[in-house]
Amino acid sequence: MMTTNTGTLNLHPDRNLGMELVRATEAAAIRAYPFIGKGDKNAADGAAVDAMREFLGTVDFSGTIVIGEGEKDNAPMLFNGEVVGTGRGPACDIAVDPIDGTSLTGAGRQNALSVIAVSDRGTMLDASSVFYMNKIVAGPEAIGVVDIRQTIAENIRALAKAKGKPVSEMSIAVLDRPRHEGLIEEIRAAGAGTRLLLDGDVAGGINAARYESRIDMCVGIGGSPEGIVTACAIKALGGFIQTTMAPKDEAEAAKGIAAGLKMDYVYTANELVSSDNTFFVATGVTDGALVEGVRRKGPVIRTDSIILRGRSGTIRRVQADYRADRWLA
Ligand code: FBP
Repeated sequence: MMTTNTGTLNLHPDRNLGMELVRATEAAAIRAYPFIGKGDKNAADGAAVDAMREFLGTVDFSGTIVIGEGEKDNAPMLFNGEVVGTGRGPACDIAVDPIDGTSLTGAGRQNALSVIAVSDRGTMLDASSVFYMNKIVAGPEAIGVVDIRQTIAENIRALAKAKGKPVSEMSIAVLDRPRHEGLIEEIRAAGAGTRLLLDGDVAGGINAARYESRIDMCVGIGGSPEGIVTACAIKALGGFIQTTMAPKDEAEAAKGIAAGLKMDYVYTANELVSSDNTFFVATGVTDGALVEGVRRKGPVIRTDSIILRGRSGTIRRVQADYRADRWLA
């Protein structure tokens, strides 16, 4: 039997939508490439958004954007509620982050990614009314031993024990922000080491959950959209994620509650994305631990991407060579 137009993808063997979606993240990364290190993060983001929208339009699905991005600094957006795709094929929720790490891209720093996450329609939490989430992301060893309600020291000790390694060898990724000064001190006081991220806690979270990674856990407050995107990837990796809403003030908390979000509540992977039928694709814009950045080699533009599929748990690494004369001046 074939995949039907019912909005579900419950038959095997079925289609790996990620294989088609990766063209959109590749295109976004390539279009952002000329802006790497040129100091204009919004121009890079705008080019990535336009390319992503164009390529999403060719994919046979009906994707409703639940998580768009860019709202925080008036950057260009793919709007929440915007419907993308040909309209043929499954109905899906889609979260886009045309560039996670726009500042990294503008500055020419490492770890910027272009990202799309997809799940069955109606299964992605719309957390857009509260800008930040507190997150804790790790690999499968964390399940049942790590809890966002415990102190960071307790979580580090518990995860170190579960992984069978000394606390002194634990590496904890945190966004390098003034709001994390106390957290960073606590991590170091516990005996673990920090890996401070300038930006990009999607890559940080995924790296924490990957089995061969040098990062053991990614913690702290980052964007809510990035939290949902990360949850889609974590479901495919079989890892661990918990989040709590981190409203800036009472007004934002009230806005979140009115939109159906729960404050002082621990969201698990299944509550962030309630379907196991998830796809996560990311293409490197600049080099990083997860994937390499876009590079031009004479007549060729090379992209490096990762495709994660929740249902099968498959992780694919995809390298593509594009003809530079067709893409860049
Ligand atoms: P942008 O590329 O959209 O700026 O996001 C980068 C990022 O570092 C995210 O990975 C992270 O979740 C968020 O910004 C953190 O927000 P802030 O920079 O306000 O601390």
